[in-house]
Amino acid sequence: MKKIIITGGAGFIGSHVVRRFVNQYPEYQILNLDSLSYAGNLENLKDIEDCQNYSFVKADITDEQQISKIFSEFQPDGIIHLAAESHVDRSITSPLEFVKTNIIGTVNLLHAAKECWKNSFEGKRFHHISTDEVFGALGNEGFFTEETKYDPHSPYSASKASSDHFVRAYSDTYGLPIVITNCSNNYGPNHFPEKLIPLMIHNIINKKPLPVYGDGNYTRDWLYVIDHAIAIDLVFHQGKNQENYNVGGFNEWKNIDLVYLLCNLMDEKLGRKNGESAELITFVKDRPGHDLRYAIDATKINKELGWKPSVTFEEGLDKTVEWYLANKDWLENVTSGAYQKYYQQQYH
Ligand code: NAD
Ligand code: TYD
Repeated sequence: MKKIIITGGAGFIGSHVVRRFVNQYPEYQILNLDSLSYAGNLENLKDIEDCQNYSFVKADITDEQQISKIFSEFQPDGIIHLAAESHVDRSITSPLEFVKTNIIGTVNLLHAAKECWKNSFEGKRFHHISTDEVFGALGNEGFFTEETKYDPHSPYSASKASSDHFVRAYSDTYGLPIVITNCSNNYGPNHFPEKLIPLMIHNIINKKPLPVYGDGNYTRDWLYVIDHAIAIDLVFHQGKNQENYNVGGFNEWKNIDLVYLLCNLMDEKLGRKNGESAELITFVKDRPGHDLRYAIDATKINKELGWKPSVTFEEGLDKTVEWYLANKDWLENVTSGAYQKYYQQQYH
């Protein structure tokens, strides 16, 4: 029987990874380790919380004693590490939070894994979930490959780049068995409405201004979150030791075009007249250090592991909007309280 700790399992991507592993591998024991920060929500896992092979522990990855105790009691064979501070705009206002969780938290987990597996690394694996943002910004041409030099610009991407370096350092120095995946922008159900797509969906529903940064000509490569969970499953089980794999959607969109697409789709679904929601688009002050374009070359994971996105963007966006319309309570819950304060500070 395999025992796996998934960190950040109550967050957006983590909850989809936990669900996939719990359903796909009934013979594994899955421990979801999450501090339940503003971005963590156990509601995301309601459908699997009673499964025999699932358990949850509330813990902070930066807490050395707590993490060491959990590792020695649970004796994991694998770690899939997603817990992080994940929002670029928050990293601009509170960089130290990102250093603490993303760098120190990751090193703390690496240390706990090394100690727990000190007798043998056989059959063990530390899978670190990273981002394409570590590679910096592209111009209008080209793609990020696994060989692209790291060149992070935001405190978020700098903290993720640093955590990737520590993961490799633990492998090079101590022989810890690791893999790293660097993925492009995800979208889908349970995405916290501080990020572009869910924020726009939330504001369209409520007929609030749609804040587009700068001229809106920034480009991101969007991947449906369940396809990311499938990629993580494949790399965790079949990826080569010490390697990194880029994961992307082959799906580039300029922000402004994406916001128009969402407006039209939602006008249709909400029975509004065509063009009504687009009138809410408001160009606002740009994000400092805003990366122009991200685009992933996912040839390696495709050739070596046979992965490619299973959902088209049209299907994925449709499912996503349907999910938010069917889960207005979820949206209400996560946007009450502290979210209002964040929104005021960020957008006014
Ligand atoms: P998220 O913000 O939705 O979730 C993060 C989770 O980590 C939350 O459940 C939170 O409670 C938990 N967490 C935060 N600090 C913690 C701590 N100190 N101890 C324990 N748990 C803590 O993030 P997400 O979008 O699901 O991203 C998950 C991972 O994937 C991150 O490592 C992120 O860098 C990476 N990633 C995200 C994207 C994306 O588009 N969202 C793309 C590529 C990579
Ligand atoms: P985001 O979802 O924050 O992801 P990331 O910065 O990690 O790529 O933002 C995606 C793009 O959308 C990015 O170019 C910034 C832009 N953006 C807006 O124009 N308005 C917004 O309110 C937000 C949150 C993002």
